[in-house]
Amino acid sequence: MKQQITPSKGLRGTVTIPGDKSISHRSIMFGSLAEGDTEITGFLYGDDCLSTVGAFRSMGITIDVAEEKIVVHGKGLHGLQEPDNVIDVGNSGTTIRLISGILAGQEFNTVLTGDASIRKRPMGRVIKPLTAMGAKITGRQGNTLAPLCVEGTKLHAMQYQSPVASAQVKSAVLLAGLYADGWTEVIEPSLSRNHTELMLQSFGAEIESEGNRARVKGHPRLKGQRIEVPGDISSAAYLLVAGSIIPNSEICLKNVGLNPTRTGIIDVLLDMGADLTIANTRSSGGELMGDITVRSAKLHGTTIAGELIPRLVDEVPVIAVAAACADGVTEIHDAQELKVKESNRLETVAQGLRAFGCQVDVLEDGLRIYGGVPLQAGAVCHSFGDHRIAMSMTVAGLAAQGAAEIENFEAVSVSWPSFWTDMQALEVR
Ligand code: S3P
Repeated sequence: MKQQITPSKGLRGTVTIPGDKSISHRSIMFGSLAEGDTEITGFLYGDDCLSTVGAFRSMGITIDVAEEKIVVHGKGLHGLQEPDNVIDVGNSGTTIRLISGILAGQEFNTVLTGDASIRKRPMGRVIKPLTAMGAKITGRQGNTLAPLCVEGTKLHAMQYQSPVASAQVKSAVLLAGLYADGWTEVIEPSLSRNHTELMLQSFGAEIESEGNRARVKGHPRLKGQRIEVPGDISSAAYLLVAGSIIPNSEICLKNVGLNPTRTGIIDVLLDMGADLTIANTRSSGGELMGDITVRSAKLHGTTIAGELIPRLVDEVPVIAVAAACADGVTEIHDAQELKVKESNRLETVAQGLRAFGCQVDVLEDGLRIYGGVPLQAGAVCHSFGDHRIAMSMTVAGLAAQGAAEIENFEAVSVSWPSFWTDMQALEVR
């Protein structure tokens, strides 16, 4: 589907951001492995999280989905059953990587696959450490690509020094550690999002973290919980940038997740000169949340690198749009991970911005964006099947000097199905 975008006259109003994708996935997974019911409010009804619901239903877990809440009827750590078909995770990297860790320690076999993007993404990064724990996982191309065959077996604990700061890798190893004797530890080069650690703790696991290390003790008894999923800061990011770069804007974003491992976007926008205020902060299940108000502001370029990258890894495409509208040059480094996301985001974001007349260099480890030149009319962009590219280019289109078009726009349903109508509702008429 093609989406026409016309320049915005300003975005104003209050909006509730859809639920956090990472927390929604984990609420279904850990709820399934817990004893008793887990009640989830604020769940993200996007395609990715529904893939996780489908996966656990196929392993015998009853999950009641209603508009106001989801109830997972958990069966305990050993309550899953062998699915009678291949598990299809769709576009969801979080589903395939995290459940690989869970499935490795079961007493049955599974086959995991996904869409064309998933079948190109690196799976060796989870297969390797899980194999070192005793797991029996095979995949295409020398055990690096899905489809994956997981032969459930007995696992042993280990200490794993991960070469990448990846919450998906960390979580896969920690979840396998639930089925191993003793403590399983992961050490990362820099800290990735810590939702697994926080949520496992609230379900009653023995889990400890310090700096870039996290460790979990095997064979816990997890107890069903009430989970309030905050709004996803990775979705809020589109409005934080749009509200900053589109004149005459003032948007209040209610109940957004503010976990410090995810708030790199706020640090960067403030550093670029954005006008953001945070109010009503509180915490639930260890997760910080609050309301963010954004007003239009003049932005300037910046440099983003190092330990900041994992704290904003999914926001780089929309930060690139902010950079295109900011005065001066912005450089992003240490962001090689962007090449193996739903698309090669260094390439796809550069192609998108170039359609608006912006000069962008793709670097070995990031991007250089020459900002401050008005985004030109007539851009035709492609989502490349990547939800974050579709939404980032929408923001660019709203800030451009004339109409733009985005092809394959329906990719947004992965993380924000009502994105277009929610944006329209904020439009000044
Ligand atoms: C996620 C972790 C991130 C992120 C992805 C969701 C998670 O991936 O890009 O969208 O829920 O654990 P990596 O931590 O592997 O970079």
